[in-house]
Amino acid sequence: GKRTRIREILSASEAGVEAVVKGWARTVRVGKDVTFIALNDGSCMSSLQVVAGPELSNYADVARLGTGSAVAVTGLLVESPAAGQRFELQARTVEIVGPADESYPMQKKRHSFEYLRTVAHLRPRTNTFGAVFRVRSMLAQAVHRFFADKGFLYVHTPIITGNDCEGAGELFRVTTLDMARPPLVNGAVDYAADFFGQATGLTVSGQLEGELFALAFGDIYTFGPTFRAENSNTARHAAEFWMIEPEMAFADLMADAALAEEFFRYLCRFVLDHCREDMAFFNEHVDRGLLSRIEGVASTPFAMMEYTEAITHLKKAPVAFEFPVEWGLDLQSEHERYLTERVVGGPVFIINYPKEIKAFYMRQNDDGRTVAAMDLLVPKVGEIIGGSQREERLDLLEARMSEAGIAPAGLWWYLDSRRWGSCPHAGFGLGFERLIMYLTGMENIRDVMPFPRTPRHAEF
Ligand code: 4AD
Ligand code: MG
Repeated sequence: GKRTRIREILSASEAGVEAVVKGWARTVRVGKDVTFIALNDGSCMSSLQVVAGPELSNYADVARLGTGSAVAVTGLLVESPAAGQRFELQARTVEIVGPADESYPMQKKRHSFEYLRTVAHLRPRTNTFGAVFRVRSMLAQAVHRFFADKGFLYVHTPIITGNDCEGAGELFRVTTLDMARPPLVNGAVDYAADFFGQATGLTVSGQLEGELFALAFGDIYTFGPTFRAENSNTARHAAEFWMIEPEMAFADLMADAALAEEFFRYLCRFVLDHCREDMAFFNEHVDRGLLSRIEGVASTPFAMMEYTEAITHLKKAPVAFEFPVEWGLDLQSEHERYLTERVVGGPVFIINYPKEIKAFYMRQNDDGRTVAAMDLLVPKVGEIIGGSQREERLDLLEARMSEAGIAPAGLWWYLDSRRWGSCPHAGFGLGFERLIMYLTGMENIRDVMPFPRTPRHAEF
């Protein structure tokens, strides 16, 4: 028969009704003349207790079920005498759909996140990862809802591209790959195998193409996968991650920051309102102060600080940083965390960075040495948003590109947008995985991605 999801049973049903429930056994406990199965179907954190008695024709097999087995249960929903659950299912039939024996790698005990990374193909069946991926799915929908409500156009920018938006040389090259014949000829790259003879890579950002659409539709956003060939083995960098990039025409840096703040606080409020059970789990088992921190962020305006002022704070900090602090140098993660955690004690925008440490497309300020950039820093994660007002003046953009050593030939289409109908515009990128880390308290980017792409992780 048609199955009912456990989430619906626990929130709506009344006792005394028949139900069909299908899922995976989390625990199987054999008592005197009765076997209890904690059944989870992924629809929510809670498992439904199935009570199986010896009158079942296959009782002996049911009593031997292992953790991880797939079962389909038909039975009567009754008020549960046990504490902590409203209902239990009095089994009439228990069909063993797919048994799992004791070699199942996730037995009933607390496994470390490190261990669970080695069984990333099975870890969605645990409490923590069930919660992470439900929250991730809800947040993806929240992103679309926010921009749809504001009338932003959703644009799909290319994954394979010939431009390096950030100019950092971190594109993965795209070649045709014959699994039986690796694309190396005597140790050299086989250029004939490139994208139909043209050098291309996987996109690092959809921004440049997004700008073209903003200059036609006014307000747009992208939300898709991006790739960076940086071999940084940190807890907050992945080679493949998702990014949300809005772009607004006729907007300056302050309008950009205002949108970023509204968006970020909306997402905080969204998980508090729509993911209560999973958020309560994170608050109890992963990060004790999580709920009150997010509640605070959802309801308090963000701080803003000039880069120059940030440097002043860092210079007089009573801590020894690993990396040097000097006007003109980029902020490292230790500096970002000091500013947001110790100086501000909450989210903070840092604006107007030296132009040398930022991308070529950012708009030059009148001081001639800074650009209209903004990074949003948050406690525990550090940089979570990077954005800017864009250089809309053709002559200044060309000058900046030549300073940065970027050939104009490959970006002729981008320059065209400054040649005809250019206007002030601004946008930002929010790293989706860093957002999930921030909202769940999970501390490693590998633990908020279904199948993390970090160095040494690409099998499936
Ligand atoms: O600061 P980034 O590099 O900015 C851009 O890509 C701009 N084109 C965005 C724009 O203005 N439209 O990246 C933006 C955000 C970062 O703040 C961070 O949250 C995330 O993307 N990010 C990463 N997340 C995971 N792994 C990585 N390797 C990341 N690199 C950036
Ligand atoms: Mg950045």
